[in-house]
Amino acid sequence: MESDIADPSLAEAGRARIRWAGRAMPVLATLGERFRGQRPFAGAGIAACLHVTAETAGLVRLLTTGGGRVRLAASNPLSTQDDVAAALAAEDGVTVFARAGEGLDSYEAHIRMALGDEGPAGGTGPAGGTGPARPSAARQPGPDLVIDDGGDLIDMLHRHRPDLLSGVRGGCESTTTGVTRLRRMAAAGRLAFPVVAADVSATRRMLDNFSGTGQSVLDGLLRATNLLLAGRVVVVAGYGPCGAGIAERARGLGAQVIVTEVDPVRALRAALNGFRVLPMTQAASIGEVFITATGNRDVITGEHLALMRDGALLANAGHFDVEIDVRALAGAAAEVTPGIRPHADEYLMPDGRRLILLAEGRVVNLVAAEGNPAPVMDLSFAVQALALAWLAGGQAGLEPGVHDVPRQVDLEVARLELESMGVRIDTMTPVQDEYLSAWRRG
Ligand code: NAI
Repeated sequence: MESDIADPSLAEAGRARIRWAGRAMPVLATLGERFRGQRPFAGAGIAACLHVTAETAGLVRLLTTGGGRVRLAASNPLSTQDDVAAALAAEDGVTVFARAGEGLDSYEAHIRMALGDEGPAGGTGPAGGTGPARPSAARQPGPDLVIDDGGDLIDMLHRHRPDLLSGVRGGCESTTTGVTRLRRMAAAGRLAFPVVAADVSATRRMLDNFSGTGQSVLDGLLRATNLLLAGRVVVVAGYGPCGAGIAERARGLGAQVIVTEVDPVRALRAALNGFRVLPMTQAASIGEVFITATGNRDVITGEHLALMRDGALLANAGHFDVEIDVRALAGAAAEVTPGIRPHADEYLMPDGRRLILLAEGRVVNLVAAEGNPAPVMDLSFAVQALALAWLAGGQAGLEPGVHDVPRQVDLEVARLELESMGVRIDTMTPVQDEYLSAWRRG
């Protein structure tokens, strides 16, 4: 079956972009050499729902190098890089269902196709149509393994194709919001197979959310606005690893940063790290830039919007576009001017204030910039590939539910990354090992 992508002629541009990202992904390269020999996914069908970017291409290629057949759908309609989709669709063992800017219907149809539903008649061959995907009744075999980013694919699998659940050996979930959803599914007894929470990996949490998202969210904000952050009042909602990374970097660029939180421990950490902590109702009238990173909904509501200063900028870093109440913003506005800059829409309020919404309230780093830099995704995807290989190896007895990344995976990824950096570390002596495992003082 064929891919459903925007423009196959973009494949060469996509290959160039993938090559550039690949230069900064040494751990995936090392794993590629290993998987070529070991073939951990030999014959396995892998359904993936991920941001279709050059970095993701590194993971997809690693899975096919390891013998897998990958069916890839986008995890966000706005983050798809059409040239990368075209390059991947031209590769053996990969089928891609993703078009930048596609609507919700097409987005969901594409996820169903990644799970095995047949695609649009004729797919997107050289003469392929560019209209929305039209799934038909014909179906491909279901996946043996799944990789998700946000939980939509796993949710769709359970709701739309329960007939396939018994064939799924396990899966991996990439982001905090997806892990939270899957834990709720598991608690309700609805998750039918084991899923590794890649997000909870020590390597990933240390690097991806704090350093990667922390940087790329500001990258998205700056590309969309060309703003000078020095001296600006920036409000960051949520002080998890993402929010903390954003807050730290905004401060480094000279902004006065206010943090809002609902968790007393996280709020205390923000306060002890030197940030001003306020409720959103107070921060709303002070802030000039608002960035949400909570994984929650209705963090900025109509009540807050009514308090904001003229020219306030609104951006979201959280996985779903529900953190800023965009509907309330549109409902309150007297006039909307879309695209005053790429990825920036202006909402004119009846009292003359103008509020600027970036990236339609979706993940600003993926929409207005290029997502997390390749070295960060190198580690994140290495964790996922190794966790998936571990599941593919048949973890007999692993219960349905959400599982931590096996410790050996984290250690292996960190070891490979240190090796690529030329950094060597000490090894514990047997005496030290014994000392640390004994309870008597030696
Ligand atoms: P986390 O769950 O560790 O932290 C979120 C924080 O927000 C928590 O401390 C929570 O108490 C706080 N919070 C919840 N509701 C709030 C509210 N109403 N007001 C203020 N604070 C509130 O999550 P993490 O890892 O920091 O990720 C945050 C979001 O970013 C998630 O949706 C995650 O999926 C997403 N994410 C986005 C990435 C991107 O590339 N844009 C990359 C990684 C994660």
